[in-house]
Formats: sequence, C-alpha cells, structure tokens
Amino acid sequence: MTHSQDQIGIGFIGAGDVSLLHAEAVRRCPSAKLVGLWNRSRDRAAERAASFQCKTYSTPEALVSDPALHAVFVLTNLETHLDYTLLALEAGKHVLVEKPVGATISEIEQMKRAAAAAGRICMPGHNYIYEAGMARTRELVVTGALGRVISAYVMYNIHHPEEVAARYPGVIRQILTHHSYMLLYLAGRPRRLAALKATLHYARIPQEDIAMVQMELESGALAHFCASFAADDYSGDPWTVMVKLIGTSGSTRYSYRDWVETRPGIVHSQTYTAYQGSITNEVRHFVEVCVRGGGEPLSTLDDAITAQRMVEACERSVAEGRTIEL
Ligand SMILES: NC(=O)c1ccc[n+]([C@@H]2O[C@H](COP(=O)([O-])OP(=O)(O)OC[C@H]3O[C@@H](n4cnc5c(N)ncnc54)[C@H](O)[C@@H]3O)[C@@H](O)[C@H]2O)c1
Repeated sequence: MTHSQDQIGIGFIGAGDVSLLHAEAVRRCPSAKLVGLWNRSRDRAAERAASFQCKTYSTPEALVSDPALHAVFVLTNLETHLDYTLLALEAGKHVLVEKPVGATISEIEQMKRAAAAAGRICMPGHNYIYEAGMARTRELVVTGALGRVISAYVMYNIHHPEEVAARYPGVIRQILTHHSYMLLYLAGRPRRLAALKATLHYARIPQEDIAMVQMELESGALAHFCASFAADDYSGDPWTVMVKLIGTSGSTRYSYRDWVETRPGIVHSQTYTAYQGSITNEVRHFVEVCVRGGGEPLSTLDDAITAQRMVEACERSVAEGRTIEL
C-alpha cells in the first residue's frame, strides 16, 4: 500500500461501526491516507480492509511499529482505549481516541502524561463540535453577539436497537459524554448538577436508555441535557440532536434535522448528514491543524477529564438521589 510522501499515514485499531465513519472521513481528507487496520476478529478485519482498500496487521504491536504510519485511531470499545492509546503513543504515533476517552479520570490523565512524554498529540474523538454549525454557534457566544447566555439545552433522541445498546455502557456514559464536551465548548463548566435515568425499552440489558440532567453553570446560566436511545422523535422540528442557547441579545438552534437522507445510517433509522460531517471535519482538524500544524484540538484531554467528571457526577446524582457539586 503506497501513499505520497506528503500524506499522513493512518492506522485503525478496531474496525467496528464507527470505523465506517472514520474511513470515509480519511478518504475525504486529501492529506491523509488509511494505510491499514487491526481488528480483534480476523474475518471482520479482512472484510473492512477490503472495503476501505487498506491492509491488515496481524497484531496491534505490528500496526504501531509500521514506519508508514504517523497516526493511530483507537476505535475499539471503551474498556480498551487506555491500553491501545499508550501502545501507540509509546511507539511515537499521534493518536485520535474515540469517546468516552477513558473509563476513569485517572485513565485520561495517564494518556495525557504519555502524550507529553512522547511529544505526540492525543486528541479526544469529540466530533460533534467540529460541525460547521457548532463553529458558528461558538462564534456567537465568544463575540458576545448573544449577550449573556441564560440557558443551554442539548437534546438527543435516537432509537438504538437492544443488540447495539448492549455493546455500549448506558446513555449516561455513551451519550452524555457528547453533551458534556459540547456544553464545555459552548457555554462553560457546570458548578452543580442533578440527574435522573430510566430503562424503558430494553428487555434483557440493564443499561439506562434515557437520562436527563439539570445544571447550574459557573457563569450562572442554567442548562439541561436529555439523552435517549429509547425512541426516535418523529414530531415536527424534532429533537433528534438539538443544541439551543438563549442569551439576552440573541439565541441559536443547531439541529441534525437540517440535513436528513432517507436511508438508514449504520444503526440510525435515517442518515443524519451532520454526523458524517462532524467526523470528516474532526479528522481534517486532527491531520491538518494538529499533526501537521502542531496546533490544538478544539476539545483537549483536559476537556475530556472535565467531561468525565460531569458523567461521574451524573452517576453519583442518580445513585444518591441528590444534587452533586463539581
Ligand atoms: N463519536 C461518535 O459519534 C461515536 C459513535 C459510535 C461509537 N463511538 C465510539 O467508538 C468506539 C467503538 O464503537 P463502535 O460503535 O464502533 O462499536 P463496535 O462494537 O461496532 O466495535 C467495537 C470494536 O472494538 C473491538 N473490541 C471489543 N473488545 C475488544 C477487546 N477486548 N480487545 C480488542 N478489541 C476489542 C471489537 O472487535 C470491535 O471491532 C466506542 O468507544 C464508542 O463509544 C463513537
């Protein structure tokens, strides 16, 4: 497999569902090339490598020691992110690691130390904020165009079948991680929060399929999160993925429903164009701004630590039935 001297060579560790979005993103990034992948099951590895037109490696160690690779995407399940991220950083590769970045704050801190020691980038896969509409929203906040932000809402209602949800933690870890880094990017950190959760449509698995959170931010504004795998929202102007900020001088609404293709999108009932768009822009930022330009991700490992702190506070709030100070 050859790629030009100017291209950043990329390898994937893990070739599950999310690798489809990352492969398409790399294909759309002219300055990058997917060189190869490793996946735990060899059949899946061979099938995905054929469709992505890249090679396979027999072990993760063989992948990270290939000099043709500049960067590794860690696309496995949460429990394995730390080991593969450290393996790649210690081999001198830049890393993009899917969210949730780690299972604990201490895991993310270990990644941060390893990246600093290796002098390499370790970028969280915080894709939603790389969408163009998110950049516009943030610009309105930082320029003061919205005035003082009074309230922030992040809503997510996308049905996931039980066999898909079974591979993930519940929506608090799996989805509120997205909400947390989006809120940090757009409106800042929470001071305290209270959460509730329920399991409404799964027959066998115990994970929650809906969670809601109320927050008071350090700015004094209030915020609300909803994350649900239980049902799609078919109403007019649906809250599929919706971000709303209301300020004293203006307000914004960002919605996945502005771009919908009427075909299934991996595990979603429809294709939300912004989803692939966010990962395409994220990969381009990683390659061009971070790896080539030495710049920062829009959301860093420090943000991943704060997002993890928020997720863990939600879990404690549910378990103890009270408001948690952050
Ligand atoms: N950013 C997003 O919007 C988004 C969307 C979906 C998934 N994700 C994240 O991507 C990651 C993968 O999710 P997915 O949907 O592709 O899941 P998946 O179940 O389709 O794929 C997971 C992959 O991990 C591998 N794996 C599982 N256990 C392993 C182990 N012990 N050792 C080595 N490999 C192992 C599996 O073989 C599989 O290839 C998760 O962290 C998930 O949270 C992010």
